[in-house]
Amino acid sequence: MKVVIPAAGAGKRLFPHTFTKPKPMVYIAGKPIIGHILDRMKELKPEEVILVVGYKKEQIMSYVDENYSNIFNIKYVDQKEQLGLGHSVFTAMDEIGDSEIMIALGDNIFETNYSELYKLHSIMGDCSGSIGVIEVDDPTKYGIVELDGEDIKKLEEKPKNTTSNLGIAGIYFIKDTGILMSILGEIIRNDIRTHGEYQLTDALQEMVSKGYLLKTFPVPKRLDCGRTESLLEANRLLLNEKKGIDDVFKVKNSVIVQPVAIGENVTILNSVVGPHASIAKNTCIDNCIISDTVVGTRSKISKVNLHNSIIGDDAKVCGKHNSLNIGDSSSIEF
Ligand code: G1P
Repeated sequence: MKVVIPAAGAGKRLFPHTFTKPKPMVYIAGKPIIGHILDRMKELKPEEVILVVGYKKEQIMSYVDENYSNIFNIKYVDQKEQLGLGHSVFTAMDEIGDSEIMIALGDNIFETNYSELYKLHSIMGDCSGSIGVIEVDDPTKYGIVELDGEDIKKLEEKPKNTTSNLGIAGIYFIKDTGILMSILGEIIRNDIRTHGEYQLTDALQEMVSKGYLLKTFPVPKRLDCGRTESLLEANRLLLNEKKGIDDVFKVKNSVIVQPVAIGENVTILNSVVGPHASIAKNTCIDNCIISDTVVGTRSKISKVNLHNSIIGDDAKVCGKHNSLNIGDSSSIEF
């Protein structure tokens, strides 16, 4: 089986972080998102990992080559224009050939690893493919599936009105790859777009309309790294499962509350760091209290109390100590 990871988009929902880096390179819990995804793929031992890249692709390629080229047979496909998820998968057609594929979106991390998800798909038995689903609060933000028993009856991308709250979780196993590719080709040739893009969901719906059997499997827990509001939750959950304690290059008069991820060459002075703080390499923290926060590389953070924050690379955050002269029985809140 080959794996396709669509990772070409500009990640607008993560602006300002994706002004300077592609979404899969956004750092949480000690490494870029794409690192967490690939770590969870090791056990699956796919024949090939095809990364569809585009926006700021050099950053993804150099990180993946440096850290994963000895583990996976990696191939890159360049999606020159970001025309949607369906278009992204279609761009990888030549590399996929007629192999069975697993499509894993580049911004979703699952609590289980991909070989566990593959097992959930395999027990589905005879079908043209299966899709991981999860109940969602707001169906207008996801691809939505309607079921007939175990089989998919209808799929719709970000529907305005639906009675189903079963969302497409961003993991797909497709056995009839040739059919999917020919439908995607038709969608693109005929310029059939939904919400302005060539959608994978529309191609899967067309498979169902043509009589191909698609099934679903429940995804245990999914960390959505494509939205700022859920990025810190993903950071927290990934740190909770982290094993081992990182060495801190220089730590003085400070308390580190696990779990944290501290990169190489980080300096921590007169501070309380953690729980759930991810500090990337070469950053300096002094006189701070930091929890539930991600700080990028080469940043300088001093005299601040940070909670629930995302700070990029090369950033400088400098607070100042307050001076008060207040009387008895006063009550001050900052
Ligand atoms: C994509 C898919 C959508 C799916 C979602 C999961 O949407 O098109 O069907 O529910 O991923 O994250 P996107 O997040 O790219 O808008």
